[in-house]
Amino acid sequence: MMLLEVKDLTKEYKRNNLFFQAVRHANLNVDAGDFVSIIGRSGSGKSTLLNMITGLLNPSSGNVNIAGKSIQGLSDLDLSHLRNSQIGYVPQGMSLLANLSVLENISLPAFLFKNNNNKHTNGDEIAERSLALLDQTGTSHLAASYPKQLSGGELRRVSIARALINKPALLIADEPTGDLDAETTAGIMDLFRGIARKGTAVLIVTHELDTLDYGNRVYRMDAGVLREEAR
Ligand SMILES: Nc1ncnc2c1ncn2[C@@H]1O[C@H](COP(=O)(O)OP(=O)(O)OP(=O)(O)O)[C@@H](O)[C@H]1O
Ligand SMILES: [Mg+2]
Repeated sequence: MMLLEVKDLTKEYKRNNLFFQAVRHANLNVDAGDFVSIIGRSGSGKSTLLNMITGLLNPSSGNVNIAGKSIQGLSDLDLSHLRNSQIGYVPQGMSLLANLSVLENISLPAFLFKNNNNKHTNGDEIAERSLALLDQTGTSHLAASYPKQLSGGELRRVSIARALINKPALLIADEPTGDLDAETTAGIMDLFRGIARKGTAVLIVTHELDTLDYGNRVYRMDAGVLREEAR
């Protein structure tokens, strides 16, 4: 069973009283261990596509199946359960809570959402897992720091750790290397590659240059049209 199936997905928006399609009939399959990158110009529809895949945005037509289940037509509760058990999401831009430490930010989703992967976990196990993720993302020394004390690259690493706390089958990240220098970007891409190798499917929106050495498949979004790039 395919982990993520995007079928003929379209999103139509209205601007200045005119309708336009931000995403046009997109198709995409992602399976365990895949590392898929989406590139494309600003405004081409990349975030719109990701937001439909995570269930944050309703498509105008088409379907998103996660682990064989269509997310269209699910109740809000079932959708949030499916999302919290299957998907780790690193949104575009800053999303950490300013009043929580790095360690608290990473642990929070585990306390908020119990799923099949962490149903029986207690506070000690969550703390242990959070520390392991700090280690995996190279941010252990920042556990007690607050988001405003972190650099851009450190903030991304913490956001990625937080997205992994509930052991998702699919990690989705929207421009996780935006505004980072080449070396920091390479470090983050290495981190994603390691995550994919451990069996978590990784789907990221990123810059063209970042994909040269990473990702087993690359797609280009061009004015709402998604196409696989020949490599
Ligand atoms: N809620 C909305 N209403 C109307 N138009 C929208 C809405 N959200 C996005 N758009 C438009 O849809 C298009 C695609 O936007 P989207 O955010 O998906 O682009 P993107 O590829 O992620 O760009 P970037 O690389 O700058 O993040 C843009 O033209 C944008 O202005
Ligand atoms: Mg975007």
